[in-house]
Amino acid sequence: MKPIKIKIDAPIVHKTDCLTLFCPEEAAPGSALKEIDKKLNGALSQAYKSKRFEGKTNQTLWLDTLGNIKSKAILLIGVGPIKEIGAEKLRQAGGTSVNQIEKNKSTSISFVLPSLTGGKKNSSKLKSEDIACAIAEGALLGLYRFEEYKSKDKKTKNKNWTLEDLSLLTDAANQTVARKAAQKAQKIADAVFTTRDLIAHPGNRATPTFLAQTAKKIARSHQFSCKILGRKEMEKLGMGALLGVSQGSNEPPALIVMEYKGGPKKQAPVVIVGKGITFDTGGISLKPSANMGEMKMDMSGGAATIGAMQAVASLKLPINVVGLVPAAENMPSGTAIKPGDILTSMSGKTIEVLNTDAEGRLVLADALTFSARYKPRAVIDLATLTGACVVALGHQACALLGNDEDLIQQLIASGESSGERAWNLPLWEEHEKEVKSDIADLKNITAPNVGAGTITAAAFLKAFVGDVPWAHLDIAGVAWEQSKPYIPKGPSGFGVRLLINYLENIA
Ligand code: BES
Ligand code: MG
Ligand code: ZN
Repeated sequence: MKPIKIKIDAPIVHKTDCLTLFCPEEAAPGSALKEIDKKLNGALSQAYKSKRFEGKTNQTLWLDTLGNIKSKAILLIGVGPIKEIGAEKLRQAGGTSVNQIEKNKSTSISFVLPSLTGGKKNSSKLKSEDIACAIAEGALLGLYRFEEYKSKDKKTKNKNWTLEDLSLLTDAANQTVARKAAQKAQKIADAVFTTRDLIAHPGNRATPTFLAQTAKKIARSHQFSCKILGRKEMEKLGMGALLGVSQGSNEPPALIVMEYKGGPKKQAPVVIVGKGITFDTGGISLKPSANMGEMKMDMSGGAATIGAMQAVASLKLPINVVGLVPAAENMPSGTAIKPGDILTSMSGKTIEVLNTDAEGRLVLADALTFSARYKPRAVIDLATLTGACVVALGHQACALLGNDEDLIQQLIASGESSGERAWNLPLWEEHEKEVKSDIADLKNITAPNVGAGTITAAAFLKAFVGDVPWAHLDIAGVAWEQSKPYIPKGPSGFGVRLLINYLENIA
């Protein structure tokens, strides 16, 4: 990724292929825009007047400058009514603009940072640092491509466009703020790309061993610690649930343990736990073949955990954070667990496995038990856990369940500001009863017709967390979804930005 440049230039003398202006519905464009409008003989205000452009969210309009200013063309991006402009609107505007320049094959783009003060009454609450960061973040995230598996000549054939220059335009007074914001956006985007790459790799590449090696590499370059527990160590710890899931596969399991110490030595850490099923065939309870290939993304929670650790470390957040990724492949074979088998988890609780496709909760059970050794201030797990979650919430929010109202509210707020929304579902005693087994302590699915699959899965997890503040994010519907201009086709990297926002807030 090329670094974002900061340029101190007045928009009318600045030279670029595409000068991008963010325009609210009120068309109260501030001094920069008024000046440009004048130079363009009123082309800007005429666009509004004729209603060819109304500043609606993500609306776009190209204007040729015909030599009236130095830039070749102007791109107007609508950001909606000023009152409603938050970071997410600007992130989307940043994404929209890079999608536009790819279409037009522009090789340079510069963003005129908006001041968003259209008169005192309807000023947006955003600080200029947040404005710059959101726009840069959206643009960078929108530029993500994954082409590792295209052969060389295919790659060059597709590559008839390269962006050479991405710049933020600012004045001398705001230079430092803009530079800081751009650096932050870059670090966040880098971490999201780590996560997206891991998810995009197919199951024959992104094995538990590959996840572990990648985590080690990232830990080394970002200076946090990373240890890998293998089968032997898991046996010693009695992790029968994690081992049970992996026993049908030839790929050895791994428990990735990452520790970042940015806070005081004795400060209790936040522990993040991410489901790392590198491929989910369903096991002996085999999934249907249609779309089974999508299940290479069943390690999205684990990938988000690794990405979040990278971001925390590169942003040097003053807080202690631990990341745990129980990684395994869920396969059917002569050695696989069978419906009816009973596993003994690390907690000592026994689990009747009635469906081998409900494997995520099994690997998470042992990782959640393991998390207790850190005496954490909070535990947050992320998992592509249930198809039911996609039915309930679709692709616009992950499900959020937990045992602590403060933690839930903090995560909802972070979801709103990061644009990675979380929707709270209830988790009642009645749900916990549904995962009690007749012959073991727990069973991994409920009786037919109980419904509430996302909630009962969380109820199962709750049995392994004790009384630590805990929240569970079911990201099955959002991990692989092109729902926004800054999310290209493929994995979204959901969770990294939500977690960073949360950790920044509590640090
Ligand atoms: N990995 C799947 C859940 C999933 C489904 C993720 C669709 C992403 C998209 C999980 O392991 C699973 O198979 N869950 C079962 C649970 C059931 C057997 C209780 C499901 O949702 O069908
Ligand atoms: Mg499954
Ligand atoms: Zn799964």
